[in-house]
Amino acid sequence: MRIVIGSITAVLLLLLQNSNAEIPGCDFFDTVDISKAQRFSNGSYLYEGLLIPAHLTAKYDYKLLADDSKEKVASHVRGCACHLRPCIRFCCPQYQKMNMSVCYGDMSEDELNKHDPFVNVTLSDGSVVRRHFKEDLIVQSDLAKPGCPRMYFMNHELPGNKFTLFENGSLLRHWDNAELSKREYCVQHLSFIGDSIRIAPHFCPLSSEHSRTWKTVAIVISMICIVLTISVYLYVKKLRNLHGKCFICYLASLFLGYLFLLLNMWKYSSHFCVTAGFMGYFSVIAAFFWLSVISLTLWNSFSGNSGWLNRFLPQDRFLSYNLYAWGMALLLTAITYIADQVVDDENLRPRVGVGKSCWIYTGDMTVMIYFYGPMLLLIAFNITMFVLTAFRIMKVKKEAQNFTQQQNTTNRLNSDKQTIKGGRNEVGASDEHISLQNTKIEPSVF
Ligand SMILES: *[C@@H]1O[C@H](CO)[C@@H](O)[C@H](O)[C@H]1NC(C)=O
Ligand SMILES: *[C@@H]1O[C@H](CO)[C@@H](O)[C@H](O)[C@H]1NC(C)=O
Ligand SMILES: *[C@@H]1O[C@H](CO)[C@@H](O)[C@H](O)[C@H]1NC(C)=O
Ligand SMILES: *[C@@H]1O[C@H](CO)[C@@H](O)[C@H](O)[C@H]1NC(C)=O
Repeated sequence: MRIVIGSITAVLLLLLQNSNAEIPGCDFFDTVDISKAQRFSNGSYLYEGLLIPAHLTAKYDYKLLADDSKEKVASHVRGCACHLRPCIRFCCPQYQKMNMSVCYGDMSEDELNKHDPFVNVTLSDGSVVRRHFKEDLIVQSDLAKPGCPRMYFMNHELPGNKFTLFENGSLLRHWDNAELSKREYCVQHLSFIGDSIRIAPHFCPLSSEHSRTWKTVAIVISMICIVLTISVYLYVKKLRNLHGKCFICYLASLFLGYLFLLLNMWKYSSHFCVTAGFMGYFSVIAAFFWLSVISLTLWNSFSGNSGWLNRFLPQDRFLSYNLYAWGMALLLTAITYIADQVVDDENLRPRVGVGKSCWIYTGDMTVMIYFYGPMLLLIAFNITMFVLTAFRIMKVKKEAQNFTQQQNTTNRLNSDKQTIKGGRNEVGASDEHISLQNTKIEPSVF
């Protein structure tokens, strides 16, 4: 019995010790390994000139990974240093440089002399201060790196690459306004073009980028379907009317837009980046203009020959639609190109092909002016046209119904007469013809 009680007590003690091993109220990612620091008899530690009292220290035999799982490591003492002084969370040992997400050897004497050791830290009151990473902050370099094989970094000199490093260790990525915790990012010295070495934040690809494969699959399926549809429209003679031809143009520009999107996604267009950006822009905008042409022709064909549009359009309507759709797309592309050249304010330029993207820059609201804005206008126009067409169809249907009713009444009268006469006529058969002529619907529209 005594043995049993003894072992239970031992287990309880062990459990107790285990749970005591964590510093209460202190996140693992706010701690540093202080086993090499000087220990005083009262239990406090002196780490990098910072006195860590005994109650903010504990023994740990694990390392917390980015996904909150534990990795077993040799027992060591950790201190909750970040509650006493702002910390900076490094990816690798503090003097190493990073290249392509890999830490490698310490900086050379020459590199140490020219590297920029300062970071801008935003305090809780909003003011920004310049801090020396080693002298003013506590370097955390033994935490597990964010859990992805390949990390991205931010160069704050590029548009959309700005970031804010807070005193409490959070990092605000301005591009998508995401606040990253110390689990999700780390900073390290990095060589930039122009021979400067700076401390730059690194983080995992955005979660949406994991789905690049799926996006590709979806786009490729769409492109195949577009090609099939175009072939059908080209092959079937009956479909090669005005609407069919407009539809083919729409599909063709959509196909090109998808193609450039795909090339950009897989970085195949990087050797003609700006050109590819403008061609992709032109294709997408042209597709939207063709969509507006389609909604216009649909509306026009239901308005019959009385449609005001017909009076303004020359005989060859397809030609004028072509001039309109491609011309407007070309005009917008030209405007965007000129704006890219002449606008001084970096934040108001369309920035086609900047950074790593061979597309118009979509990181801030400027894209509304050049890309999404025109698209929204066209979408609004299309919706209006479709609503007008729907009203028109309802009206035509009602008219047709009234007409048929009238016809029926006449028919009945007629047939009554004819019954009296003893003869029967098939008036009903011509009904359809009359009502179709009356409303001037081209059956080929459908
Ligand atoms: C522990 O000892 C150090 C050095 O003697 C001293 O600076 C510190 O104030 C002491 N801490 C406490 C909580 O007594
Ligand atoms: C980074 O590594 C690549 C190859 O791994 C190398 O070509 C490149 O020069 C390195 N960059 C720096 C700045 O050391
Ligand atoms: C820090 O702030 C200064 C002054 O505002 C600025 O010139 C510098 O580029 C900033 N550095 C970083 C890394 O953001
Ligand atoms: C860190 O500070 C910033 C700004 O003061 C705040 O927005 C953010 O929520 C804080 N993060 C944490 C984890 O406390």
